[in-house]
Amino acid sequence: MKKIAELYRGKAKTVYTTSNPNLLILEFRNDTSAFDGQRIEQLDRKGMINNKFNYFIMTKLNEAGIPTQVEQLLSNNEVLVKKLDMIPVECVVRNRAAGSLVRRLGIEEGFILNPPTFELFLKNDALHDPMVNEYHCESFGWATKDQLQQMKELSFKINTILTNIFDDAGLILVDYKLEFGVFNGEVVLGDEFSPDGCRLWEKETLKKMDKDRFRQGLGGVIEAYEEVAHRIGVPL
Ligand code: C5P
Repeated sequence: MKKIAELYRGKAKTVYTTSNPNLLILEFRNDTSAFDGQRIEQLDRKGMINNKFNYFIMTKLNEAGIPTQVEQLLSNNEVLVKKLDMIPVECVVRNRAAGSLVRRLGIEEGFILNPPTFELFLKNDALHDPMVNEYHCESFGWATKDQLQQMKELSFKINTILTNIFDDAGLILVDYKLEFGVFNGEVVLGDEFSPDGCRLWEKETLKKMDKDRFRQGLGGVIEAYEEVAHRIGVPL
């Protein structure tokens, strides 16, 4: 399957059409952005690592019964996916307090959330992805009640699967962001799962092993991504 035309260029991935109207190619680039794209840097190997990381995780989720858009790994930086009708809302699951939750509610970083919590954010760069609730999603037509129910159920099922995978590798899955879309009427997991869109801490030392290393200028970003990939068994 070959790329035909650029459909959309995001902050870290470019989406291309293919000869099949139901399939797209995602290209993972080395661009790494933070603070709504105000800071962008090229990190060597990041595109390849995230592409293979995402393919590995999506395959694991698929095997566990989660519908995902992923079809086939095409190259180091490209994956073939189903063309979804994307729901413009990000789903965030949090097992521990970090990031915007700490800033918003003044909770200590690392506080264990029992049960894990769930948040929705509107995908809108100009508005800095504001937090929204289920009523907003329904009233503005971003998602139906049924779709929201499925997004929530899938997000928590994914939490159980991924928490176990990372726990076995000595890592805490602190939080993560998911995006869903619709394919043939079914809610399907889209976008990506990589260290760019989740927080992972080393269990023993609480060392940050994710994009917070970039956001907070801690250095060793790619080394941390590679270490996580190695620990969970992603072939790089
Ligand atoms: O910034 P915040 O604490 O709300 O992020 C929660 C989780 O969602 C983090 O793992 C972060 O990397 C991810 N996220 C993302 N893309 C966004 C917003 C958050 O991947 N636009």
